Amino acid sequence: GVTREYWLSVENTTCAPDGYERLCLTFNGTVPGPAIIADWGDELVIHVTNNLQDNGTSIHWHGLRQLNSVEYDGVPGVTQCPIIPGESLTYRFKVTQFGSTWYHSHFSLQYAEGLFGPMILNGPATADYDEDLGALFLQDWSHTEIFTLWDTAKQGGVPTLETGLINGTNTWSCADSTDPKCVGGGEKFEAVFEAGKKYRIRVVNGATDGHFQFSIDGHNMTVIASDLVPIVPYAADSIQVAMGQRYDVVVEASADAGNYWLRAGWTDACVMNGSPEDMTGIIRYDSSSTEDPDTTSAVEASDSCGDEPLASLVPYLSLDVTNTPIITSEALDFVFDDYFKWTINSSSFCLDWKNPTLLQIFNNQSVFPTEYNVVSVEPSQTNESEWLVLVIQDETGLGITHPIHLHGHDFWILAQDTGVFDGTSGSFNFANPPRRDVASLPGNGYLAIAFELDNPGAWLVHCHIAWHASEGLALEFVESQGQIAVGMTDSDIFMDQCDAWADWYPDV
Ligand code: C2O
Repeated sequence: GVTREYWLSVENTTCAPDGYERLCLTFNGTVPGPAIIADWGDELVIHVTNNLQDNGTSIHWHGLRQLNSVEYDGVPGVTQCPIIPGESLTYRFKVTQFGSTWYHSHFSLQYAEGLFGPMILNGPATADYDEDLGALFLQDWSHTEIFTLWDTAKQGGVPTLETGLINGTNTWSCADSTDPKCVGGGEKFEAVFEAGKKYRIRVVNGATDGHFQFSIDGHNMTVIASDLVPIVPYAADSIQVAMGQRYDVVVEASADAGNYWLRAGWTDACVMNGSPEDMTGIIRYDSSSTEDPDTTSAVEASDSCGDEPLASLVPYLSLDVTNTPIITSEALDFVFDDYFKWTINSSSFCLDWKNPTLLQIFNNQSVFPTEYNVVSVEPSQTNESEWLVLVIQDETGLGITHPIHLHGHDFWILAQDTGVFDGTSGSFNFANPPRRDVASLPGNGYLAIAFELDNPGAWLVHCHIAWHASEGLALEFVESQGQIAVGMTDSDIFMDQCDAWADWYPDV
């Protein structure tokens, strides 16, 4: 492996990705940010400069394990203090996985303002395709700044984002509008196919609150990876992509000519306020054509808000979760006190950016504040591998599906069902279960995910619906606490970062 260096500047600017101008946040001026590309085994060195005038930031590399580099996981309040305006932080970590993922701000709701970008990690997995089209980012998008919508969310309402972007672009009609912000000029995403060729597309759902059904009229696809995990390929006419999830698909250019709609439909079963219009892009066989397609979709709209069926997601490298795992059960509920808050075992997650969990660990603290929702896990000192199963039971009665993401590990899905978990491993599938880093907790149901206790660190678990994380739908694992500080190489940088934040923050 080699060392690959990237520079990301976090900027506050205006943008009009769909032809409607608003304030937004960008990496290096673009939405999405630049692709970060590396090979399996490389070291990534990413210099992030905070060019915002009045706010902190912090960047997370979604799905990456951060083995021996927990301090670069990018979660303010857990693994670092935010980067202050005008300052930079260099993130350094090893690429120990391969496939398609994304990076995004983990500071409050910043990623919903444009702070997201693709990561492509090349590895030894073989797949049958001719050309790699790179990432296809599906994103919901609002013409109002997200912090205005956030006020609605805090009151228990469901904010509406009126449109969406495919790789940072879409159209919005300004025809009858006198709104000066409706500047026009948005375009639809387009790609050109050559008949007979096979194209790899890396579908990423980077939405704030949009669950999408992805398809291309007149074409089937072969699904080859779920998140960063190669799977036994399966054929599909559409795929369901929850927030934070990725699928690598291969699409064969099976037509000879014509134009076809590529669709990312809002999955109605996941939308509470009625869906915005489905997002579309265009696949052309003739690059000089400027016509809109006249195709219709043959795909049946999904009536469920879940993931792709577990039976379809068979990891290419099989692994049985064999020994008897430790089970930790967490109950999801909500309270309304001043504003809407999700609770995990009655406690709503809330952090102090000045006092991240890692700092407390450095200070040899063993009892963490209640609202950090810390679950401490210590594997016993044997050489056997040990597994932890996290079971989250939805007790809210609201029937909302939550895409649950774990940092520092990917996980094996042992159970994902409606109804009530019986407290035993009776319903678990231990035989080569699906493996990934975001899985849906079904409304009024439960999700059981297992991971091996092999990565000392402080690892966040949260709902990847942006509001839900900010409303407290999170907990964190402190795994093998005694070994965390030992494994950290850049503790001086970490400390400086926190001193800088403590100095800056009181002045705001
Ligand atoms: Cu995609 Cu906690 O992040």
